[in-house]
Amino acid sequence: MPVEQHIADYREFAEAIRNGLARLQRIKLPLRVVIAGSTDNGLYCMLLNAATKVGGDKFVRSLNISIVDRCKMPLVFCEQFAVKNSLHVNTVHSDFVEFDYAANCDLLIAHGVMSFFPINERNRTLKHMRDWLSLDGMMISSTQFGDRNIGEGDGKYQNERLRGAKANLDRLLHKAGNFDSQPQAILEQKLHSGFANRSSHAELFGEREEALSFYESGGLEICDFSIVDNTSQSNSEPLRRYRARAIATCLRAED
Ligand SMILES: C[S@@+](CC[C@H](N)C(=O)[O-])C[C@H]1O[C@@H](n2cnc3c(N)ncnc32)[C@H](O)[C@@H]1O
Repeated sequence: MPVEQHIADYREFAEAIRNGLARLQRIKLPLRVVIAGSTDNGLYCMLLNAATKVGGDKFVRSLNISIVDRCKMPLVFCEQFAVKNSLHVNTVHSDFVEFDYAANCDLLIAHGVMSFFPINERNRTLKHMRDWLSLDGMMISSTQFGDRNIGEGDGKYQNERLRGAKANLDRLLHKAGNFDSQPQAILEQKLHSGFANRSSHAELFGEREEALSFYESGGLEICDFSIVDNTSQSNSEPLRRYRARAIATCLRAED
């Protein structure tokens, strides 16, 4: 089964997925899982690896997985990965607020996407996603949290990030082979302006209480909430832009 993984590996998030799957598989099978937002096929692989640990190949193949993203490129990578491994994946090219899943989802995985929502739309978006969950459905969400480690104007850091993002893009495009992409120069220009503006990633959660009440007001009951501290990372790890990440495991609260 797949071992490939591209996103910065958050051991703690993989562990939360494993625990969630182990709990849900005791309640019902087959499980319907939605991944909300996916940079590449890394989160999909993280899910498959976690499922392999929980229930082996048979369990992995029993999962009904949908991946939603407004960007087409990660969906194509996930589809290619699924085909290569004789798996089926349902990809949905849509903004979250335009996607209706009709309360069918047993496990919703959202990794680092909540801080992308404009702050005035954050609650509405979370409520909409919460309605994808079945009555006993679970959401596992990780979000950037606390102060920034790095100021937006830190040139050396920005250049390093940009180089890393470009290398990742090159690698993915190379792997994808005939992927019908925009010319390299346009992609690079988009990367540059994305890094210069970064407006979509501005809304970190300030304090623990703020994040907790965000999930609760979105109609979720928090079962587990842990903060992963980025300040104690080793020198060999890439420096993160924010001090911490909060991982929440929630159940759909009663209406
Ligand atoms: C930086 S990534 C987050 C990390 C990603 N979950 C991962 O771990 O691979 C953000 C992803 O979420 C998608 N995204 C952000 N907001 C979205 C929205 N409102 N609707 C659909 N996709 C969204 C972006 O297109 C992008 O692929």
